[in-house]
Amino acid sequence: MYNLSDRSVVLGVTGSIAAYKAADLASKLTQAGALVDVVMTDAATRFITPLTFYSLTGRQAHVDMFDTASGAAEVHVELARRADVLAIVPATATTIARLALGLADDMVSLTALATKAPIVVCPAMDSQMWEHEATQTHVDTLKRRGVLVVGPEVGRPASGHVGAGRLAEPDTIVGAVRYLVGKSKGDLLGWKIVVSAGGTREPIDPVRYVGNYSSGKMGYAVAEAARDRGAEVTLVSAASLPAPFGVNLVLVQRAEEMREAVARECEGADGLVMAAAVADYQPAAAAGHKMKRTKAGVTLELVATPDILAEVAKADRLVRVGFAAESQDLVVNAREKLRAKGLHLIVANDITAAGSVFGSDMNQVVVLDRDGGQEELPLLPKYEVARRILDRVAALLAK
Ligand code: CTP
Repeated sequence: MYNLSDRSVVLGVTGSIAAYKAADLASKLTQAGALVDVVMTDAATRFITPLTFYSLTGRQAHVDMFDTASGAAEVHVELARRADVLAIVPATATTIARLALGLADDMVSLTALATKAPIVVCPAMDSQMWEHEATQTHVDTLKRRGVLVVGPEVGRPASGHVGAGRLAEPDTIVGAVRYLVGKSKGDLLGWKIVVSAGGTREPIDPVRYVGNYSSGKMGYAVAEAARDRGAEVTLVSAASLPAPFGVNLVLVQRAEEMREAVARECEGADGLVMAAAVADYQPAAAAGHKMKRTKAGVTLELVATPDILAEVAKADRLVRVGFAAESQDLVVNAREKLRAKGLHLIVANDITAAGSVFGSDMNQVVVLDRDGGQEELPLLPKYEVARRILDRVAALLAK
């Protein structure tokens, strides 16, 4: 689980039927440890109540900017100052227009005008309103000012008119918040990190392949954790997991494709974390048509794939991290790989250990370095393992 503790997120909710999804978002951010303060427009309260947000965040939601009893007028300045991110979810056409014009006549627009924090705006409205020139002009103005606009997505909104106008998914918005936190406070800001993930698939014929059990979760965790710390991240993936927000995703299938993509993306990069399970062998030739079943069976001729990491080892300025999946002599084998592939670090895991099975959200690893250092980590969520690896990468980059 990612961590937003000590982060202050101000959530601006405006009057769209999608406002109920802001409740899910408030809950997710709170569970991640963020301090979530909700500001709402009057129109938003027609769709969802301040009590809903109070119940989810444990903090008073603010609606009336003239409410002297709750001190709302002072609160907005305080919230605007404290915010690490202001997320306006959902943002109606009216609120977008207010923000573009710099109006400050409700708690949401007031906070937006008063804050120096990065702002993410997630529009939700009827597709005709979204496509209207007035809205599009205002959105362009916001983008020019550096506001991150996420969505709307194409889909079936509550209004029934199919088109762009549907609020982005709460998970995507959480990704955008994490991305912005990284961009303003991350310790990997300014570094470009390439991550590989997933098991490659080497085609036998148009319907079959040689593959492995890798889920790609470890590599995705590294990519997300690096993004959360401000790095510019490219993820070369052979997995089929949802695309993380703010990460440059390059999808590949075969080892050869991964080799080409990794080599290309590593140009100008500062670090490479090779979490992919690259197939060691590929069929000598893939059949052009589906192979027919025969009683006699078939013999597949397999040839070695390129060793992607060993090839990149020539790029000496790159901090290189490999993974070693072993079923015996974990440390000895991993240390040999670290040496043979010219790596800075290798993350070794025993694939036979309980809890570290393929597809799990947990992993137990040993991190080995060039200087003979060996750190045994307990069984941890993959995101936490990723953070520990990136701590080491950050230290190496700083050298
Ligand atoms: N790797 C690679 N290219 C390959 C095979 C592996 O870049 N063709 C990378 C993996 O992404 C991993 C590291 O090398 O970071 C070690 O992978 P692993 O499969 O454990 O080792 P192999 O070199 O394949 O050795 P073996 O299969 O004999 O254990």
